[in-house]
Amino acid sequence: MTLLSLKDVTKAYGGVPALKGVDLSVAPGEIHALMGENGAGKSTLIKILAGVVAPDHADIRIDGQPVEIGSPRQAHRLGFRFIHQEFNVVPALSVAENIFMGRQYPTRGGLFVDWRKLNQAARDTLQKLGITHIDPSRPLGSLSLGDQMLVRISSAFIGDDGAPARLYVLDEPTAALNRGESERLFTVLRELRASGASVLYVSHRLDEVMAICDMATVVRDGRSIDTRRIADITHDDLVTLMIGRRVEEAYPPAIAAPRAETVLAAQDLGIRGGRNVSFQVRAGEVLGIAGIANAGQRNLLRTLFGDLAATGGAMTLAGQPYRPRSPADAWRAGLGYIPRERRSEGLVLSRPIFENTTLPHLAAQSRWRTWLTPPREKRAASEQGELVRLKASGPGQRVRELSGGNQQKVVFAKALLGKPRLLLLDEPTRGVDVGAKFDIYSIIRDMAAGGMGVVLVSSDLPELIGMADRIAVMRDGAITDIVAAAGLNEERLLNLCYGR
Ligand SMILES: Nc1ncnc2c1ncn2[C@@H]1O[C@H](COP(=O)(O)OP(=O)(O)OP(=O)(O)O)[C@@H](O)[C@H]1O
Ligand SMILES: [Mg+2]
Repeated sequence: MTLLSLKDVTKAYGGVPALKGVDLSVAPGEIHALMGENGAGKSTLIKILAGVVAPDHADIRIDGQPVEIGSPRQAHRLGFRFIHQEFNVVPALSVAENIFMGRQYPTRGGLFVDWRKLNQAARDTLQKLGITHIDPSRPLGSLSLGDQMLVRISSAFIGDDGAPARLYVLDEPTAALNRGESERLFTVLRELRASGASVLYVSHRLDEVMAICDMATVVRDGRSIDTRRIADITHDDLVTLMIGRRVEEAYPPAIAAPRAETVLAAQDLGIRGGRNVSFQVRAGEVLGIAGIANAGQRNLLRTLFGDLAATGGAMTLAGQPYRPRSPADAWRAGLGYIPRERRSEGLVLSRPIFENTTLPHLAAQSRWRTWLTPPREKRAASEQGELVRLKASGPGQRVRELSGGNQQKVVFAKALLGKPRLLLLDEPTRGVDVGAKFDIYSIIRDMAAGGMGVVLVSSDLPELIGMADRIAVMRDGAITDIVAAAGLNEERLLNLCYGR
């Protein structure tokens, strides 16, 4: 029995094919993974299902009956619910308003919004995900990224207005979630499956796909390659299907050992909401920062890149006293920063790649802004794009048109263009496919070999162990251990994070 069947879906953007022939069928009561490298066409396929993008050709059937999906409203009526990859929320509006955006708000006498009812309805919706700690009347923008994501996800689970939900489509829902938050979502997905609904699930986290999905369809370069039962395949099989070759190793070896000279030294540095920390990063060294969620990593990073004032202590950067009063100050002093949430913090989606990569560097590009010529910017952007192996049609392409993983590479290109002495990376490989991950790791190795110091904050423990020279463990706002990564295993590191 088939709930949804897609055959021979094709789509080109401005003559460039994004989908060249995708087949997919989803049975009732199954969690079906849609896998593929960055740019393979997953989100495009999902937007076609959602009635947001019109396909060039598609045979779409529900329960065997051909259907047309001409608009999001139609998709909704067919029983489809979506969590798209882009963050389309309004931070200034309340949590409740964001959850019910585009729907009928409850009213009093048909005229005035009944806020009490709206907030209660939002509370009920959040409750379905087991969330009780979020106040629906707060502005969405005041919540942590993980909580914002949970709010977005919950909007897919609003009670049905006439059209019962049959298929939930989630495009990388866990990219901004920590382990605990992800687990909550998985519990809900399993409940939905038990109730007979289906889920189409996109994620680059293979372990998560192996754990919660029943089936996987792999797309490569715009074509569906294969559909397999998860129970019948291994993690490595899935990787091979996705990138078309076996991956020998996950992490490139270090090119050079860290040098003796210190790039960053922090002495009794006072972190707001945390404690004083002392540590050093040497030239060519990758210092990993580990810890469970909210152990103080975020405020430490913000203090390093000038977004949060230190409450005491001192730092030096490349031998000079360093006390940035703003991120711009930090850039000037030689610090590069790659934020966790690339879309809201790192990119202007509506602008071309070259503007996004050169934005914080205008001063370095030309003494007077009026002299600034786009060709020069474009050349710099092309060079940087090559460095990060960006897949784009050219430096003039709008960032919005890039796949998620390639947007992440634009953020990298931007950080590297300033030739920083110290590079701060906050979860740099979230939402990035296995092939692009290796590219990013290789870039980090190259930069370190050139003498850059790197601070890598990651919740991916194997990534920390694989890439860092030393790992600083944070707990309750303090650095509790600094250990060599060589010889460390995941279990030991996890125990350090939990203080066992
Ligand atoms: N609006 C657009 N205009 C032009 N090209 C686009 C547009 N949207 C997507 N593309 C291109 O279509 C291809 C497929 O992109 P898509 O976003 O579907 O990839 P994806 O599989 O979701 O990747 P990721 O894992 O990085 O999110 C990419 O080459 C992308 O650059
Ligand atoms: Mg995508």
